[in-house]
Amino acid sequence: MKILITGGLGFIGINLIKDIIKNKKIKIFNVDKISYCSMPEALDNIKINKNYNFKKIDIYDYSKFKRYFFKIKPDQVINLAAESHVDNSIKNPDVFIKSNIIGTYNLLKICNEYLTITKKKNFKLLHVSTDEVFGSLNEKSIAFTENSNFNPNSPYSSSKASSDLLVKAWHKTFKIPILITNCSNNFGPWQFPEKLIPVIINQCINKKPIPIYGNGKNIRDWIFVKDHIRALKLVLSKGKIGQTYNIGTNNEKNNLKLANLICEYFNKKYKKDKFNYQTLISFVDDRKGHDYRYAINNKKIKNQLGFKYKKNFMKNLEITINWYIDNKEWLRKKRKTK
Ligand SMILES: NC(=O)c1ccc[n+]([C@@H]2O[C@H](COP(=O)([O-])OP(=O)(O)OC[C@H]3O[C@@H](n4cnc5c(N)ncnc54)[C@H](O)[C@@H]3O)[C@@H](O)[C@H]2O)c1
Repeated sequence: MKILITGGLGFIGINLIKDIIKNKKIKIFNVDKISYCSMPEALDNIKINKNYNFKKIDIYDYSKFKRYFFKIKPDQVINLAAESHVDNSIKNPDVFIKSNIIGTYNLLKICNEYLTITKKKNFKLLHVSTDEVFGSLNEKSIAFTENSNFNPNSPYSSSKASSDLLVKAWHKTFKIPILITNCSNNFGPWQFPEKLIPVIINQCINKKPIPIYGNGKNIRDWIFVKDHIRALKLVLSKGKIGQTYNIGTNNEKNNLKLANLICEYFNKKYKKDKFNYQTLISFVDDRKGHDYRYAINNKKIKNQLGFKYKKNFMKNLEITINWYIDNKEWLRKKRKTK
């Protein structure tokens, strides 16, 4: 089976490819434009695998993307390619519109042309999206379900919501066999160090101030990247065509609590240093339009597809912290490219 993955040199793509490549029956075709946050080095030991293929393609470039798509003739597509950092979307929305909206539109057009010509059976397009499309919850609101209204607030989340809507429309109108997932905030190895958890870890490693937006009370529902990958594989294999699945592991933490947990782990790990890492926490001006809370209701994927996960946030956080500590030279270089 041939799977085309877009944006496979980013955080989730790397973790997904490292997992899928273990299945010798799958040939992976990874296309990525290679941006500042891509990490080709993560796949150094995979690129010699005969089941792994990479091509530098910007999915905004319709002609180049279409030529490659028709050449490889994929059985399934996983669409990860997107600009993904909210702060960047506030500073420079243009590239978010190009990659996230027009890029997805190009993919849908190509899928439609491809299926019209080849009449391929059992083709699936899995579009990977975010819980941020649903907007912001307050303390007492119920968690997002698949039926929650879209109410995105940032250029990032609105560009993702737009792409989700295009995917839904292409399913209804052109019968493209699609699946959509909306997942909560991921953490784990290989996350580019502009995102909150690697930023906190980096600042602890270097004993530098940890910037926390506003009063630190904003809540995110954290999922370990490996749980997200398991859920994506489950949706791709068992999900009902045309359906959307929310992915999350019921793990809400506010940003201040998260920073404290990481600092406490550093205090414990380096107790001989007698340095209190919590003193690094410093509050900075809040992000514009900062969403207060995200929370995922994961009942549909649990009940309909049998998604299971272990409640071991602290263990996974420790694995992540130690991964960054073990790779601190890489982390230093990546921070410079930012
Ligand atoms: N990280 C999370 O917490 C999270 C949560 C839910 C959903 N998602 C979604 O998962 C997907 C992957 O997220 P990530 O965290 O790996 O992002 P990332 O920013 O780490 O990686 C994205 C990758 O996509 C590539 N890319 C961007 N635009 C492209 C284009 N036009 N053509 C080809 N490649 C392009 C980039 O070069 C990069 O390698 C995104 O669609 C994101 O919205 C992420």
